Amino acid sequence: MKSGGEAEKVSLFFYRTIIPPIFIRIWVSLSIFAQNLRTDMKKIILTGDRPTGRLHLGHYVGSLKRRVELQNSGEFDKVFIMIADAQALTDNADNPEKIRQNIIEVALDYLSCGLDPEKSTIFIQSQISELTELTFYYMDLVTVQRLQRNPTVKQEIQLRGFAENNDAGDNRPGIPVGFFCYPISQAADITAFKATTVPVGEDQEPMIEQTREIVRKFNSVYGETLVEPEILLPDNAACLRLPGTDGKAKMSKSLGNCIYLSDTEADVRKKVMSMYTDPGHVRVEDPGKIEGNTVFTYLDAFCRPEHFQEFLPDYAGLDELKAHYQRGGLGDVKVKKFLNSILQEELSPIRERRKAFEQDIPAVYRMLKEGSDAAREVAAATLADVRKAMRINYFDDAELIAAQSCRFKGE
Ligand code: TRP
Repeated sequence: MKSGGEAEKVSLFFYRTIIPPIFIRIWVSLSIFAQNLRTDMKKIILTGDRPTGRLHLGHYVGSLKRRVELQNSGEFDKVFIMIADAQALTDNADNPEKIRQNIIEVALDYLSCGLDPEKSTIFIQSQISELTELTFYYMDLVTVQRLQRNPTVKQEIQLRGFAENNDAGDNRPGIPVGFFCYPISQAADITAFKATTVPVGEDQEPMIEQTREIVRKFNSVYGETLVEPEILLPDNAACLRLPGTDGKAKMSKSLGNCIYLSDTEADVRKKVMSMYTDPGHVRVEDPGKIEGNTVFTYLDAFCRPEHFQEFLPDYAGLDELKAHYQRGGLGDVKVKKFLNSILQEELSPIRERRKAFEQDIPAVYRMLKEGSDAAREVAAATLADVRKAMRINYFDDAELIAAQSCRFKGE
């Protein structure tokens, strides 16, 4: 009896104390293994622009230039570049022609900056109807309140003059529902391609955060399906948000303060020579301010040490130029000419390439169609995963049909 009790104790001890940690260990190593599989995950880029106008220097330093470098780095398994026409329509429903006209402008800007359809899939958002379906399912995972808290959406509502509430006497147009929901559609854009990396400007940070939340929510409700993306911001502070030529916080077409990638040499020179500097710097000998001085912000974004040997050999570098300006004795014109030389050097090859691509517009549309076809295949595969995870793939689900059949037979 006694020894039987002992044996029972031993076996209890064995089952309660020895076995659980072994199970935990197995479980932990399995999850580490799964995690390793995930870190082995493909590196995929997705990013894009709304085709509401030609692209300008703000787009270039904020994202475009980096995209080309990433494309050529060979570090990424896939690069998807999207012309976000459907998103552009969310606040341009009454002017679809504007979007239609600008798709080709953006495509030409892409190609002339060095995005290469051999290495990147360039496509048009509206041609991928799978994105709309994903958006519709993701809408169930986001609250109206969460969308209202999105700082970029908030700011854009103000900027566009949409009425925010129903106050009597506020005759401004209300917020289009599609516009309000565009962060959700952006989450669909990113996740449809299982993007790991989204190179964008700082203003897009809240969109990526919202995407990550949607991914986490989806995966926790329906099981691991979607990939959580990371934002990739420009590493140079001046590139984060390049001001307009008038010194206003942002380049924007409506403010007329942009330098476009497709501007002629004379346009660029004229815009640089009339740039906002330090209004207190009247005479050459006056001390000048660097902070808020657009010309110096642009130099921070574009100037490299070799530009001094090339265009301004009297100075060793940007710090020396800044110091001279602050001390007094350095005129705006000299600094502006220096900036102009740098910008022309950067922009002239882009301009030349654009001219060449403009010679064969049908080929550009063919490239966009091929890109869209390829993108659609990828998005369709993700949509199939999503439907399967949500278990709304009824007709592929033999088990469901069999179970229902038993249920109705009363088996
Ligand atoms: N919202 C972006 C812009 O205004 C464009 C965009 C749409 C985008 N979908 C995207 C950017 C997905 C990155 C990823 O410029």
